[in-house]
Amino acid sequence: MNKLEPDRGMKPLAGQRIGIFGRGGSGKSTCTVFLAKALAEAGYTVCVLDADSTNEGLALALGADDAPESLLDWLGGTVFSGGPVTCPVDDPVPIQGARVRQEALPSRFVSQTPEGIRIFQVGKMGPLGPGAGCDGPMTKIARDFVLETDGPAPVTLIDFKAGIEDASRGVVTSLDWVVVVIDPSYAGVQAAATMKTLLEQMHHGALPATRHLQSLELIRLLEDSYRGARTKGALYVLNKVADAEMEYQLWQRLLGAGLHATAVIREDPHIRAAWLEGGLLKSVPAMAEAAKLVRALEEGRGAFMESGPAENALVPGKTF
Ligand SMILES: Nc1ncnc2c1ncn2[C@@H]1O[C@H](COP(=O)(O)OP(=O)(O)OP(=O)(O)O)[C@@H](O)[C@H]1O
Ligand SMILES: [Mg+2]
Repeated sequence: MNKLEPDRGMKPLAGQRIGIFGRGGSGKSTCTVFLAKALAEAGYTVCVLDADSTNEGLALALGADDAPESLLDWLGGTVFSGGPVTCPVDDPVPIQGARVRQEALPSRFVSQTPEGIRIFQVGKMGPLGPGAGCDGPMTKIARDFVLETDGPAPVTLIDFKAGIEDASRGVVTSLDWVVVVIDPSYAGVQAAATMKTLLEQMHHGALPATRHLQSLELIRLLEDSYRGARTKGALYVLNKVADAEMEYQLWQRLLGAGLHATAVIREDPHIRAAWLEGGLLKSVPAMAEAAKLVRALEEGRGAFMESGPAENALVPGKTF
């Protein structure tokens, strides 16, 4: 037995997969950066998976010298171009080879930050050219990717693209935790409330659409992945909060939507400037908030309530 193995059970988030969601521009990537650093500071081995098929810059914001090559290339390309990586909606079968032994993966597919955070990316649509198809295969990589190491099992943070499309494709089934980032906007709060409803529906047994699937075997596989979903719950983070007045107003909106925020990242010109320059994000207050989020995750504070159906489901016509 590896002498590091006893350590695996000691840190509560080791081996867990945490997905970051939220509406476009809310601060998913910003939150991913600070959460990754806070987890590393808390002694975790950390992997970040860039699962946004469009945006660039996450690796630089984390402090790596450049972005890694895509796991889509490693895995042989999309079904649309004759490769093996299929869309999870049409084909729920797990990707062969998405559980990767660290030593099996050539170094160009991983970037590393000075504190040892490993960064991977699923693939970007841009390099595939026009007419490349949809980004379902990238989503499937995000659903299935696991890095296996000899040391303590890493926490994997997955920075998703905007919206809930990837959640609807089933990525949530392989996440232990969901973190939703909310910016001070009606759409930001609404997106978080929608995600909460979706997760609660899943928790209460809602199954995915399967009418398009021909084979009973695939239908069973897809439904079983929802029944066996490992998702424990969700936590909510406010971002870009300019001042106390705005924070107060946002809390009122959250109360109306039955949401509670675990951390509040302030509007910070340094964060904005770092994203513009393509450089390392730094902020002492944001790190303190990310440390709060780590503690909340460790304590399982966002866990689903066992009682009753979603009390805080979206109410049509409810105003914020
Ligand atoms: N706390 C903050 N203070 C100031 N500006 C911020 C903050 N967080 C994010 N921003 C600004 O908002 C932009 C979007 O942030 P970020 O990329 O983290 O959001 P996102 O949700 O990942 O966006 P996308 O949906 O495009 O992936 C950044 O480029 C930056 O300019
Ligand atoms: Mg982003």
